[in-house]
Amino acid sequence: MISPSCTLSLFIFPLLFLPIHAQTLIHGTCKVCSQQDPIVNYQFCTTSLEPASGSHHADVRGLGRISIQLTHQNVSDTRGHIKTLLKKKYSSSIKMRLNDCFELYSDAVTDTKHAMRSYKSKHYDEANMLISSVMDAATTCENGFKEKRNIVSPLTKRNNATFELSGIGLSIIHILRVGTNQTLQGANISG
Ligand SMILES: *[C@@H]1O[C@H](CO)[C@@H](O)[C@H](O)[C@H]1NC(C)=O
Ligand SMILES: *[C@@H]1O[C@H](CO)[C@@H](O)[C@H](O)[C@H]1NC(C)=O
Ligand SMILES: *[C@@H]1O[C@H](CO)[C@@H](O)[C@H](O)[C@H]1NC(C)=O
Repeated sequence: MISPSCTLSLFIFPLLFLPIHAQTLIHGTCKVCSQQDPIVNYQFCTTSLEPASGSHHADVRGLGRISIQLTHQNVSDTRGHIKTLLKKKYSSSIKMRLNDCFELYSDAVTDTKHAMRSYKSKHYDEANMLISSVMDAATTCENGFKEKRNIVSPLTKRNNATFELSGIGLSIIHILRVGTNQTLQGANISG
């Protein structure tokens, strides 16, 4: 899905190993993420990471941890929001879908928690898999509403936020893996 290019590698390499001003690092990381993965919106990425506590002192790996943390908070909040919506008067076809989304987001809360644990212990494959399934959950939830005419998803914005935040996490994990390989392989980055 994600294919790194030589020009990106040129950017990623100094990003990982040189001390860069914090502001620059957030912008640089978001830039690389949005270039290597069209899912990631640069603006969304910077406006999500900048206000996050600790982000200005974080390195790239730290920014990854923060993005997973943000995803976790976000899906927890959305799960609570769906619970509130389920108490309101909706048609049965919407209610049915909200119930599905509630299940999906309940799993997403668990998955982001486990993803954080995997990420911290550098089990990037596992973290990648878990965050991918969180991303899928948001898509599945949103698509449920699309499959029936005349109903509108009350969760579009939130599903999109989950999707975007997961995308940032996945993209940073990718940077970490590529960066590690380049170090090991003697930095063949001039291509
Ligand atoms: C979820 O993410 C969106 C977009 O960044 C943000 O507007 C919202 O406040 C977040 N919610 C939580 C609980 O983090
Ligand atoms: C999701 O959010 C991003 C960033 O704010 C935006 O560019 C994109 O158009 C949104 N997608 C949908 C389907 O709303
Ligand atoms: C990193 O290197 C390992 C072992 O050589 C390889 O299996 C893996 O696919 C590489 N990852 C990337 C992102 O290039």
